[in-house]
Amino acid sequence: MRIKIAVLTGGGDCAGLNGVVKWVTKTALDRRLAAKRSVTFDVVGIMDGWRGLIEVNPDDPESCARHLKHLDENVVRTWDRYGGTYLGTSRTNPFNPENDRSEKLIENVKKLGIDVIVAIGGDDTMGVAYKLHIKGIKTVGVPKTIDNDLFGTDYSLGYDTAINVITEEIDRLRTTAGSHSRIFVVETMGRHAGWLALHGGECSGAYIILIPEYPFDINCVCELLQERKGMEIRYSIVVVSEGAMPKGGKEIVKDSRIDDFGNLSLGGIASYVADAIEEKTGFETRHIILSHLQRGGSPSARDRLMARWFGIAAVDMIINEDFGRMASFVRGEITSIPLKEVIKKLKIVDIDKYYDTERYNGRRSVL
Ligand code: F6P
Repeated sequence: MRIKIAVLTGGGDCAGLNGVVKWVTKTALDRRLAAKRSVTFDVVGIMDGWRGLIEVNPDDPESCARHLKHLDENVVRTWDRYGGTYLGTSRTNPFNPENDRSEKLIENVKKLGIDVIVAIGGDDTMGVAYKLHIKGIKTVGVPKTIDNDLFGTDYSLGYDTAINVITEEIDRLRTTAGSHSRIFVVETMGRHAGWLALHGGECSGAYIILIPEYPFDINCVCELLQERKGMEIRYSIVVVSEGAMPKGGKEIVKDSRIDDFGNLSLGGIASYVADAIEEKTGFETRHIILSHLQRGGSPSARDRLMARWFGIAAVDMIINEDFGRMASFVRGEITSIPLKEVIKKLKIVDIDKYYDTERYNGRRSVL
């Protein structure tokens, strides 16, 4: 039997995506493994996520050349070293109720002779993969998101690289913050989950960490900063997640854009916090928004390894006919979970377990 695999990347890019595509391709086309299998594979890359599958015209060779990318071991050989996604990505939602293009997508999948789709993405991409699965299209998911908020997996690709970026950037800020005796408020991404801020803040030794799961009292933030007055400490780092909000307040958005999945464009809380600190304490304060830097750069060693494992897992799942599921990493092991479970809720920070609500920082008790 010959199976045609289509691979695509959806949602925000991150480090590690190219590695998954490489390992799906290499594992599917591996000659040694092929000799032991009853199936053989073709692998094709879909450009720009779900959009590519909607816009491609299977009857037009030029359109196919634009939207599809032939993948073989030579093409993907070096991909795992590079960040971003060579397949391109989009936030296109084929099931957007205001513009439902799912039937077109399904028709194209059939016309192109695609037997199974490997969708690499976050909760939105997994949601589409699940809906397609319900409609009879075979799908397998691979988790990626720097937000690390996908339910059912302890790890999502891109997270480690992003944490490393946060740590490195804060290390850089420390020298200038110290020289000028300033407070620096650093905004991380993460949407409604505080993982990036919490772990990025812990790794970089931030004094205060503000996350969406625990609305903060700005007076408490200022009191904590005042406590350091008179000490031999010349500066403080405050890390704030883009989705964090003051008690009684709401998330700050940077503009009115809402994407195809209904996501708001969060951003700007660092400026709010920095202004409030300066006004209430008189401490000279600056802010910085790390923004898309967190998604850029080449993948960390961990993201390369996880990309490899997830890519291999996706092919195993296809061979085992584990469709409608997402590869996942649970307690140190690769496994898989039904997409239906994944999309039920987000994995957010458990305050009781991980957050010290007095210090506004990670807990100093881990057992
Ligand atoms: O979900 C990943 C993420 O990086 C979020 O942390 C952030 O809010 C969002 O994507 C930014 O999206 P965009 O690239 O569309 O600006």
